[in-house]
Amino acid sequence: MNETESREKAERAPVLTAERLQKSFRAGSTAVLVLTGIDMVFREGLCYTIQGVSGSGKTTLLHLLAGLENPDSGQVLYRNQDISRFSRKQLAVWRGQAIGLVFQAYHLLPELTALENVNLPAMLFGQRDAKPGWELLKAVGMIHRSHHRPSELSGGEQQRVAIARALRNDPEILIADEPTGNLDEETGMEVIDLLLSLHKSRGKTLVLATHDPRLAQRGDRQLVLTGGKLEHAGRPFHPSPSRPDSPTVTSESRRERESKRFS
Ligand SMILES: Nc1ncnc2c1ncn2[C@@H]1O[C@H](COP(=O)(O)OP(=O)(O)OP(=O)(O)O)[C@@H](O)[C@H]1O
Ligand SMILES: [Mg+2]
Repeated sequence: MNETESREKAERAPVLTAERLQKSFRAGSTAVLVLTGIDMVFREGLCYTIQGVSGSGKTTLLHLLAGLENPDSGQVLYRNQDISRFSRKQLAVWRGQAIGLVFQAYHLLPELTALENVNLPAMLFGQRDAKPGWELLKAVGMIHRSHHRPSELSGGEQQRVAIARALRNDPEILIADEPTGNLDEETGMEVIDLLLSLHKSRGKTLVLATHDPRLAQRGDRQLVLTGGKLEHAGRPFHPSPSRPDSPTVTSESRRERESKRFS
């Protein structure tokens, strides 16, 4: 780690922490172990890109980080709170407010206009003010398409709307799963430029899975998921020293472990 990275690490607080995350899926009578032990600290305002061959577990990891699925073991901590201890309601509120999700397939609701799609996450929390939706559509260059339905928009335009929607509740963390996967190269790059500029200007932590090495290179931290573990791209992962098994570690010991773990 160079001096700049050390200074940056000291200044930026952890937002999401993965601790010894394991996840398997049943395939008939056998269990397929997908994630074998993910340890990672995601810090405020940085962009983390995750590469990995198809089936390596990128989507699985993003789902665990967003609390959409539960790990078999290990924890996801949001600012030192174990999200597995949240009630269903707390988890839904946390996910809706702290996490913005962007998917490969956009997942806009077809019967709603662009503006309505963008404002939907806020409406779920009882906020009916349409103005922030307009502002976000402006920020993603889609104000002229506010009243169009998704079927009337190109793929790139739909992804811009989906990015605006992900930002609607002003989340701290943006999680994007192959956001350019359905787009041609040029449109994909435009969407990524937009996503990166919004992440930077708004200080969001961005965790982005991609198959595109050029896109991955644009991350502040470039990671590869292989063999069920996360490695830094281009250099081997050195596991941190043994950790206490107890889930009730003190904040001090957690901090010590964080300083040893790569991030
Ligand atoms: N719900 C599920 N049930 C059973 N197996 C699953 C499930 N979800 C994922 N898997 C398996 O877990 C492995 C990892 O899948 P995942 O979708 O996380 O990979 P990925 O790295 O995102 O791949 P891609 O690059 O193709 O999107 C795959 O072998 C997949 O078949
Ligand atoms: Mg995937």
